[in-house]
Amino acid sequence: MTKKDVDNKLPIYKLNSKEKVIEYYKNWTSNFKYNQDMIDWDYTGPQNAAKMFSKYASNKSISILDAGCGTGLVAKELLKQGYSNFIGVDFSKNMLELVPKDLYQKLELIDLNNPLKYIDNYFDAIICVGTFTYGHVKSHALDEFIRILKKNGLICFSVNEGIYKKYKFDKKIQELESKNKLKILELKKLTYIVNKDVEAWFCVARKL
Ligand SMILES: C[S@@+](CC[C@H](N)C(=O)[O-])C[C@H]1O[C@@H](n2cnc3c(N)ncnc32)[C@H](O)[C@@H]1O
Repeated sequence: MTKKDVDNKLPIYKLNSKEKVIEYYKNWTSNFKYNQDMIDWDYTGPQNAAKMFSKYASNKSISILDAGCGTGLVAKELLKQGYSNFIGVDFSKNMLELVPKDLYQKLELIDLNNPLKYIDNYFDAIICVGTFTYGHVKSHALDEFIRILKKNGLICFSVNEGIYKKYKFDKKIQELESKNKLKILELKKLTYIVNKDVEAWFCVARKL
């Protein structure tokens, strides 16, 4: 069987610096183009993650960090599932400017590849969709997510199939499980950007 060539599916998959990614999103957000592309491309990441997350998070008032929140598509899906207490963080000012008013309690400009300013055991849950992809956030960010998550808190994230092994997310997830940092509740490949034939791994885990 020939290997699927995910690397060449989208021009953004070629970017290799923080500056280039920020510039790309700046252009992508003009005239709401990002949101329109997500509709046209049938981007199912936010729905898939919100549905998976809601199976394990029965308390709808929990505090949820939306890491790499972009224009707020994930919070919109979580709202449909009954959640409403969100903090959104992203390093693109232009993406944050497109977030609907009052969707999040707070929005912050943060680089997720750096140590995070939040104290230990702070959030009830963390969701991160579309952000573990080519040239974006690396797997070491999971260590910081776990640090700022409360004990028994939930973490839900997607990883683009094209970088899952290349950026060693497979090994990172195994390591976190074997060191008893996380209990993996679900880990499976699902649709992601349907019209571009790109899938992603989706994971829901509990902090131990
Ligand atoms: C594909 S978008 C996904 C946005 C949103 N979660 C969604 O599903 O629509 C990826 C987001 O990750 C953000 N991002 C990329 N690298 C980042 C970093 N190092 N720190 C914070 N945000 C980052 C981008 O600015 C962008 O908003």
